[in-house]
Amino acid sequence: MTYPTTRMRRLRMLPGVRALVHETRVHPANLIMPLFLVPGQKVKSEIPSMPGQYHFSIDTVGEEAQKIYSLGIPAVLLFGIPEEKDESGSHACDEQGIIQKGVAAIKKACPDLVVITDLCFCEYTSHGHCGAIINSQVDNDLTLQMIVNQTISHANAGADMIAPSGMMDGAVAAMRAGLDQGGFTHLPIMAYSAKFCSAFYGPFREAVQSAPQFGDRRSYQMDPANRLEALREVELDIQEGADIVMVKPALAYLDVISAVKEKFGMPTAAYNVSGEYAMVKAAASKGWIDEQRIVVETLTAIKRAGCDIIITYFAVEFAELFRKGLV
Ligand code: PBG
Repeated sequence: MTYPTTRMRRLRMLPGVRALVHETRVHPANLIMPLFLVPGQKVKSEIPSMPGQYHFSIDTVGEEAQKIYSLGIPAVLLFGIPEEKDESGSHACDEQGIIQKGVAAIKKACPDLVVITDLCFCEYTSHGHCGAIINSQVDNDLTLQMIVNQTISHANAGADMIAPSGMMDGAVAAMRAGLDQGGFTHLPIMAYSAKFCSAFYGPFREAVQSAPQFGDRRSYQMDPANRLEALREVELDIQEGADIVMVKPALAYLDVISAVKEKFGMPTAAYNVSGEYAMVKAAASKGWIDEQRIVVETLTAIKRAGCDIIITYFAVEFAELFRKGLV
């Protein structure tokens, strides 16, 4: 009988030693909390498809922003549901629009919280697609002009960073040029570079009523099978001027996150999306999993894959655990 000389278990015996050799630590400073804005007053209503997440009106979101900031989370990502949707999503560029007013309200309530705006049209169009429709298809170049208008509108409203999520070709370059010409050379772009056409967005689409009214998003979002194409998408966005690149969703795409970080070494974000959130909440509500442990394990795995930034509906929950010393 021979016995092992190297015993991996030696470093697993004491909590303190385990802490010393712990390779990946998620910190609230790594996280971005998404927020959903709706018209109306005094609204804070739970989103049925995303238990624990809320629709906020402009007058209630400031308080939430302060809470988020006080937990050490540096940034929020804003989504808006307009009063009315139309064919061209015109409300998206309205100076008095939901996002524009929301940015101002949050910056007023909490000036140091980084306010990132999601830039897309699907929440604003009556057909639910992410741009202008010509012959039943989203027209890329017509949408680019609309993207520039929305970009300037968000910048004028006081956004600290803009995140284009529509997967139009050339969006980052168009935005960068628009921002630079408009005097916003300092505003960074966080590009949804490798955004896959995923069933994991289901609960979000219910939350913002943005499910496409015909067809699907396969002509602009990526095929989940494609890793090399994701690298080309990221490379293009970097060439076009993206400051942060993103992979979305996160959990089923950890290999893509890892490849992106290895290859480009860019500040890299991952979006832990609504379906990933809702599945955990659903299983936890049945008592089938331990929610706290799943949250910590999941976020740790996403960071271990190589990203610096995680956009997650669990941001507040994680930061609360962190504050209590439970992480
Ligand atoms: C808008 C957008 C979507 C998400 C973020 N921005 C939905 C979609 O592409 O259909 C999904 C976020 C989530 O599921 O948490 N294009």
